[in-house]
Amino acid sequence: MLDVTALILADHATLRRGFAMLDDAHDDPAALAAVWKGLARMLDVHAACEEEVFYPHLLQVGDDDAEDETDDAVRDHNEIRDAVRAAEQHGVGTDEWRAAVKKARVENDDHLAEEEHDALPDFRRNAPDELRARLAVQWLEWRYAHDSGAGVDTGDKDPQQYIAEHS
Ligand SMILES: [Fe+2]
Ligand SMILES: [Fe+2]
Repeated sequence: MLDVTALILADHATLRRGFAMLDDAHDDPAALAAVWKGLARMLDVHAACEEEVFYPHLLQVGDDDAEDETDDAVRDHNEIRDAVRAAEQHGVGTDEWRAAVKKARVENDDHLAEEEHDALPDFRRNAPDELRARLAVQWLEWRYAHDSGAGVDTGDKDPQQYIAEHS
């Protein structure tokens, strides 16, 4: 059975591996730039895909904490997006760039852990198999259309407005 939560976990592994690859590329500006291009785009694409495909349904089927989990997630996505935008203001490999990337990594690590401890378990407990499979298909289709970064909303979202629009 396809399962949207498995696709989300697979992305999380890819994001963590991306930051580890930056460690490996530490002294090589061209390698840093190549790794960061893909990682920065994926941070944006992953957050936007969750906001399009996953969190609206968590709000519908999740337990009483679903609104708090969604509020936390949108806030975290905003922090990650802000750090990615900050990194874009500086040359790859500069101290300012490294500081922004470090911030993105810290925010992302905290956020992935929260999703894996709270939002994803809530969804697994409460979503019927049919929904997990249907959202996996939606996830794959959305990604096929947006993996290039085209049409991806990279702007910050107001968490309470987002929840109101999807509840
Ligand atoms: Fe997320
Ligand atoms: Fe995620």
